[in-house]
Amino acid sequence: MSMQTLEKETIAEAVMELRVRHVKWEADGVHSLTFVHPEGKDLPAWTPGAHLEIELPSGLVRQYSLCGNPNDSCRYKVAVLRDPAGRGGSAEIHDTALTGRMLKVRGPRNRFELAYASNYVFIAGGIGITPILAMVQELRDRKPWHLFYGGRTLDSMAFRDELTMLGEKNVTLVPQDTAGILDLDEAFSRVDDSTAIYCCGPEGLLSAVLAKAEALGVADQVHFERFGAAPKPLVTDAPAEVSAGTFEVTLERTGTTIQVAPEESVLEAIRKVRPDMPSSCEEGFCGTCETRVLFGEIEHRDQILSKAEREANESMFPCVSRAKCPKIVLDL
Ligand code: FES
Repeated sequence: MSMQTLEKETIAEAVMELRVRHVKWEADGVHSLTFVHPEGKDLPAWTPGAHLEIELPSGLVRQYSLCGNPNDSCRYKVAVLRDPAGRGGSAEIHDTALTGRMLKVRGPRNRFELAYASNYVFIAGGIGITPILAMVQELRDRKPWHLFYGGRTLDSMAFRDELTMLGEKNVTLVPQDTAGILDLDEAFSRVDDSTAIYCCGPEGLLSAVLAKAEALGVADQVHFERFGAAPKPLVTDAPAEVSAGTFEVTLERTGTTIQVAPEESVLEAIRKVRPDMPSSCEEGFCGTCETRVLFGEIEHRDQILSKAEREANESMFPCVSRAKCPKIVLDL
């Protein structure tokens, strides 16, 4: 097992009860929550791009990117956009009096790390600014960077003051109602071989950025984070008869072996013996159900793992992924 795996595992298992210190209006439809330790202790360190999993009073589990200062070990800050078409998590946060409440928080985890590069282009849409705010705060004057930040209206775009303080010349604000959509030609005109491109925002923006990067031959320089499932199902290379059939899953620490039927997910099968198994999106994009694989080949159907991580076969997301062989063993 690599060091990286060990670290990931430790971080993933850190669950804390933290107090919501305050809730603040940040922009139209955007509230931020600041968490502190109830006894004033330091919180685990995090790096830009990291997110927290927060268990809401209703039991819903949601992930939100950390957008505060990574050097401030006393508090965590996340920002939440009310999504009327969402699955209820953002509405609960906006509609519940959370100040002073204790909430279960897992993490921080980071699947959107700031990679080393000579210079950076950031492209953020709407609430996608949250992980990117922490990234540009980290870079400040240390490396050349430019942020293209689009939103519906100026008033809906959170953290404009913080961004302006980081350097007005580095930030292009594009409110759609007065300036139209983000100009990707302009954004990509700043990209050379040594540029890392970071994108976070709605699916339409992400698809447009990926298509542009593909056309220009710089797709491998793009780092992105999804809020939701990709529009098309991912293509898998598993033989149909294996992914469609029944297979066996041994839960090593629980000491149980279960059968997974063709019509059920591995997560559903696991819950028959481990009802506490955490999940959130159940569509393979949030990372909540990540589980270490001890044996067996996995047909990865998530939208999180890189090609190298799939080949390493060290972890899987049982809400969507299945076995490529008759038996797998999981670290559960
Ligand atoms: S619950 Fe979101 S990836 Fe499995």
